[in-house]
Amino acid sequence: MLDGQKVVLAYSGGLDTSVCVKWLEQQGAIPYALYLDLGQGEPAGDVKAKALKIGAADAFIRDAKAEFVDEYVAPAIKANALYGGKYPLFTALGRPLIAKKLVEAAREVGATHIAHGSTGKGNDQVRFDVTTASIAPDLTVVAPVRDWNMSRPEEMAYAEEHGIPVPTTKKSPYSVDENLFGRSIEAGPLEDPDHEPTEDVFELTTAPEDAPNEPRYIELGFEQGLPVSLDGEAMPLAGLIAELNTIAGAHGVGRIDMIEDRLVGIKSREIYEAPAALTIIQAHQELETLTLTKDVLRFKTTVEQRYTELTYEGLWFTPLKSALDAFIGETQKTVTGTVRIKLYKGNSIVVGRTAPNALYSKDLATYDPNSTFDEAAAAGFIALWGLPARQWAGVNGTVGTKSTVI
Ligand code: ARG
Repeated sequence: MLDGQKVVLAYSGGLDTSVCVKWLEQQGAIPYALYLDLGQGEPAGDVKAKALKIGAADAFIRDAKAEFVDEYVAPAIKANALYGGKYPLFTALGRPLIAKKLVEAAREVGATHIAHGSTGKGNDQVRFDVTTASIAPDLTVVAPVRDWNMSRPEEMAYAEEHGIPVPTTKKSPYSVDENLFGRSIEAGPLEDPDHEPTEDVFELTTAPEDAPNEPRYIELGFEQGLPVSLDGEAMPLAGLIAELNTIAGAHGVGRIDMIEDRLVGIKSREIYEAPAALTIIQAHQELETLTLTKDVLRFKTTVEQRYTELTYEGLWFTPLKSALDAFIGETQKTVTGTVRIKLYKGNSIVVGRTAPNALYSKDLATYDPNSTFDEAAAAGFIALWGLPARQWAGVNGTVGTKSTVI
């Protein structure tokens, strides 16, 4: 069915996607490989040469870091996007961009199909497939690993048989996905949710007990909802994230251990490292409490929750997500200021915040007798605020107490 069809495959250079190149070729397809740099670290060897050697008709290597940061990470920061209240979504954010780039490459070479190496158990397949449906409904998605269902030893045998380089080092028991906003680690011993992750799981973070004994103070400057400076030095967002990953990671900040509800119904145990993401979102939330009104803050929490679910569940390019972006964007106009954070032994603690448009007023809040707050007005306000409760009690008696006190 793929006979003579051009297929653009998301290629990482690893065993799974290398096997995919060959498999596509064997189905009669004309495979093209696309390697995208999202800040996942250096590729192993010459990715392009490898793809061509295995049988790709052509291979493209593209740097998508700037687009990733500007169009995916930045909106997620404004949305304080944390799935399950913990996971800063970096993998989920990368998928729609990879799908978009696959579609662009497909248009360039005139392909009818795109392909990815996701398995049938995860969220990533959903994100690739639904994103493609949203932006290029005429293209068909192929997922060889999902459809073929090969075990690792079978893959190795297949690779050997077809002259695909097989990793010689003992494979790590973990499944890792990484980009510049974080690193996710699954599988192996981590599948026991009661097993404490050993230090070999972590790469971006120092164990809190081995972190420096002296705290490190940092200052994050924000403009309209996005971090723009670190310790007073202006930085592009990508650079700031990289720097903060190093600084906060060295203090043991950024480890996440959670049970996560996947879209396909499975509960999975996930370990994440995201020192910069967690620190930035924490600081951003803090600055919002200083600069946004109570009602906007409350309503935004609901929007954030939905935004996070849409992102996690592969609905990035959808009308609702786009409408929520508009709402969130509107709220960020005054989210400008500085947040001071203490990093210490696995903790990031906000210790100060300032903003030119701060809604906090010391004159109003102070317990000093010369406060500008009109305390006399409070009594009248409370009389009206409590009126419905008083009325209810008069008619129906009390609710919520074990015994009647009227
Ligand atoms: N559970 C996370 C998510 O769904 C991370 C998935 C990581 N993917 C992987 N192939 N290791 O977004």
